Amino acid sequence: MIIDGKKVAIEMRKRIKSQLEQFPDIHITLATVLVGENPASQLYVGKKHKEAHAAGMQSKHVQLAASISQQQLEAEIDALAADPQVHAILVQLPLPEHINKQAIIERIPASKDVDGLGAVNMGKLLQGNKQMVPCTPLGVMKLIQAYAIPTRGRHAVVVGRSSLVGLPQSLLLAEKGIDATVTLAHSRTEDLAAVCRSADILISAVGSPHIITRDFVKPEAMVFDVGVTRQQGRIIGDVDFDNVEPIVAGVTPMPGGTGPMTVACLLENTLLAARLQHAIPKAQQ
Ligand code: GUN
Repeated sequence: MIIDGKKVAIEMRKRIKSQLEQFPDIHITLATVLVGENPASQLYVGKKHKEAHAAGMQSKHVQLAASISQQQLEAEIDALAADPQVHAILVQLPLPEHINKQAIIERIPASKDVDGLGAVNMGKLLQGNKQMVPCTPLGVMKLIQAYAIPTRGRHAVVVGRSSLVGLPQSLLLAEKGIDATVTLAHSRTEDLAAVCRSADILISAVGSPHIITRDFVKPEAMVFDVGVTRQQGRIIGDVDFDNVEPIVAGVTPMPGGTGPMTVACLLENTLLAARLQHAIPKAQQ
């Protein structure tokens, strides 16, 4: 089975759009900040704007030179933070080497932090009191839900321990009500293939092209490919799809798998950000 993220993402966007129509007086606005001219980042940011507009939201883009100083970049974020017309702020990663990434992320107020990467939102997730959850791991959880994949007591293996995906993904899978038994594997894990082979749910977020082959999966496994590598203009996932697809229960394609879900979750977080700022409770929708 192919886990169709594109289809689920379109359904999510439709739901978000209909929720938006319930408060027409607020022009929900997502601001993106891009430092430098990384072509992949330009593409991702372009998609985020396109999808925001398709959902009936507004967007604003701040393009900055790769040579910008820490102080100047912080001032740009502060201006967006103070702007009542801007509900959500997304700083596209990666940032140039000379920039202190975490210090930039911490300038974003928690209620506008739609990437959920700031200390407040990360802390809330850790405390079981989640608010804004990082979009990629949230998108995987929505796919698990959409396909009614059993999680309780099942073994979920997450490969990669980044704060963008692997770490929050592990927390979401172990959450009460989801109840998976989680293994967080990484580059120092011994016999990664054997660890992955024991997974009922396997999520790879490494960025190593096709490391997940048929030796890394069991027939009942549900496999989610989150790794993205660009090689000569082509997007290559962590999962060797052609090799793995015939022998597992389900797998996400690349592209059209977890990527569209990331963007749909960004829209959902943007809606949540607007609700937080205008004190619109969810029950009132
Ligand atoms: N770069 C790659 N993925 C992401 C993401 O989810 N958020 C941001 N801000 N940058 C990214």
